[in-house]
This record gives sequence, structure tokens and C-alpha cells, in this order.
Amino acid sequence: MSSLETYFSNLRSQFPALEQKVYGKRLAYLDSAATTLKPRVLADRMHNYYLYESANVHRGAHYLADQGTKHFEETRDCVARFINSPSSDEIIFVKGTTEGINLVAHSFAGEFLKAGDEILITDLEHHANIVPWQLIAKKNKLNLKVVRGLENGELDLEDFRKKLEGSVKLVAITGCSNTLGYRPPIKELIEWSHAKGAKVLIDAAQLVTQKKIDVQDLNCDFLVFSGHKVFGPTGIGVLYGKKELLQKMPPYQSGGSMITEVCFPDTTFNDVPFKFEAGTPHIAGVIGLKTAVDFFSAIDLNMLSAWEDQLLNEAQKKLGEIPGISLYGMAADKGPIISFNLKGLHHSDVSNIIDREGVAVRAGHHCTQPLMSKMGISGTLRASFSIYNNMQDVDQLIFAVKKAQEMLS
Ligand code: ALA
Repeated sequence: MSSLETYFSNLRSQFPALEQKVYGKRLAYLDSAATTLKPRVLADRMHNYYLYESANVHRGAHYLADQGTKHFEETRDCVARFINSPSSDEIIFVKGTTEGINLVAHSFAGEFLKAGDEILITDLEHHANIVPWQLIAKKNKLNLKVVRGLENGELDLEDFRKKLEGSVKLVAITGCSNTLGYRPPIKELIEWSHAKGAKVLIDAAQLVTQKKIDVQDLNCDFLVFSGHKVFGPTGIGVLYGKKELLQKMPPYQSGGSMITEVCFPDTTFNDVPFKFEAGTPHIAGVIGLKTAVDFFSAIDLNMLSAWEDQLLNEAQKKLGEIPGISLYGMAADKGPIISFNLKGLHHSDVSNIIDREGVAVRAGHHCTQPLMSKMGISGTLRASFSIYNNMQDVDQLIFAVKKAQEMLS
């Protein structure tokens, strides 16, 4: 075994889900872009919380409540270090990427963008980075502009520059397309946007497990990601925002915890981040998120990208040799995601057969319908790789795709 194989085989052994068989077959889990599998250490941590540590946070006057608050706030510090945020106050716990974007749409765009102002997105975006902007654009009479992608799945950077002209006040872009895997040059795009006076939100839902995120180096104004895509629990995610912006923004939701004083007729609000965390939060999720971030932070990212590139290249090469296959978005800088179709066959029919071979992929539009309609298709099959995948998974995928083609043609 090479040193990479040994390293990743050790990591793989920490994921009990991979020990099971599905339909009597070895499980090749190739759907990490939808959600990652969970390491045993995460389940143990959450199990322990629910069994022995359950108490509310930020409001108790007893041992368990104090401990809970300490662990909760330790996660905030841990996430701040993870993305190199200058302050833990800039870390807001939300349900996930989607809620983080909705929060910015409501409290930033909704409050500060006025009729005629423009928001710039791209045609690569996930629905979560489209629909919240459409809604706020309608409400505040804003103009939503869309940057085109090129044939090879990369962004048209000229079009980006052109569309930045005008009254663009906010740019919202993905760090990695969940459908094509393409990673736009976000640092450059942020610089260009700032030069035109626009703030920038990065959807890091996919990027977070691919590259070191450094919000100070990127100089983004907002960044969002979900816990469940970084080996953590569902229902918890992070919104990073620059403090001076968060301080000016009005609350998104209201209730307990987010206030300083409530009286009739008025209420004063707590400081950031608490102003944006109304109600009892997802405490177990937050505590689990620390375990997940610690787990992922211990992985050598250079080894990870070398490993994922090997898997991606091998899978792309072998899939590319299958007659009648279309591979979408063969960009130069790509995360470990491959979208494809077989000529004359519907992606759902193909996925039904490969599922029976123990191969888990996603089939459909992947919440990127505008991208699908631009490509003139209704959906694709999508295989995505992560730390626990290996060459056997690639071979199993190729075998299953060939079998589906044989059975359906
Ligand atoms: N956004 C997730 C995906 O791409 C759910 O599958």
C-alpha cells in the first residue's frame, strides 16, 4: 500500500456506515456532496451529550447548564480558528448553508439594498444561493443579475467583470459548484467585487472539505457552510460575517436570547453573535460540530487533495472510456465531483440499477435547475468523493455504470 492508501484506509475505518452491505453488496458511498458519512467519534460525542450533558445554554445557573454553555462557546472558538476568523463574535450558528444565506438576504440585502440596486450571482449556483436573492429582489425592487458559465463549466470571467458594472451591491458565489465540481477563483472575484464597492458572500458548502478556508485571506464579507457536509450533524451550520456588518444588520428572527432588555413598548437587542441566535439553539448540533471540525482539522489537506485528485482522475478517465457517456464540466480546477449521463438513458433509471450494485450516487438536478436548463438536460448522475473513498469505489462505480448501460440499452 502507498502511504496515501494507508492514511486514507485508517480514516475509512472510522466510518461504521461503510462496514454494512446494501442489497448484499459492498457499499460504495459516492454521495458526499449531498452529505458526508459520520465518524464514530461524532456519534459518541452526541450520544454522550444527550445521555449525560443535556441542559440549556446561556441561561442556566447550575453545573450542567454552565458546562453546556462552555462547550457551546468552545465550538464557536473552534470554528473561528478553523476558518481563521479574527473573532468568535463573527461566527453565527444557523441551521445550515441555506439559513445562513437567507439570514444575509433578509438582514443585509433586505435592510441596506434599495430599489435599483443589484445583486450578482452565477448560473452555477445551488437553489439556496438563488431563491433567497430572488425573493428579496422582488420585495425591495432590486435587480438580480446572473453571470454565465462557459461550456467547460468554468465561469465566464469576462462576463463577471462586465456584470459588475452598474450598481452591484452584493455578489453571492459558490466556492465550488455542487453539480460540476468547478471552483471559481473566488479570491480574485472578491477583489474585483470590492473594487466596485460590492460586498461578497461565499457559499462554501462544498469547498469547506476541499481547501483550507481563511476568511481573512479571502477577505470575503460573508461565508456560509453546513455541518453535515464536514462530517458533522445535520441541522447546524455556520454563517461568518465581518463584525462591522453584523453589528449594523437587524435581527433575522426574534425571541429569547437575542435580546438585552424587553419591555413595553420596545426591546433592545443583544450583541453579535447572539442577536442572530433567537431561541434555544441546536445545542447537540453545535457540540457535535466541534467534534467534526476537530476531526477534519486533523486531516492533512495536502494529502487529501492528492488522494481526491487520484480518485477523481481515475474515475473521470474510466468513465470517459465508456461509449455514449457525457461528462459535464471538465474544468481545470475541480473538486472531487463528477456529473455524467449515458446517451439515451434517463439518469433515474441508471441510478436505480447502480444503487442495486451498492453504489450510492445522486441523480437529478442537484438543486441547480438553471444550470441544467442551460446545459439542455433535466438532470445528471453525480458521483462525489471524500476522505473514506478508495479505488475499489471507483471500480465498483464503473462496473455498475457499465451494467446499467447493458441492461437498459
Ligand atoms: N446541496 C446538496 C447536494 O448538492 C444537498 O446534493
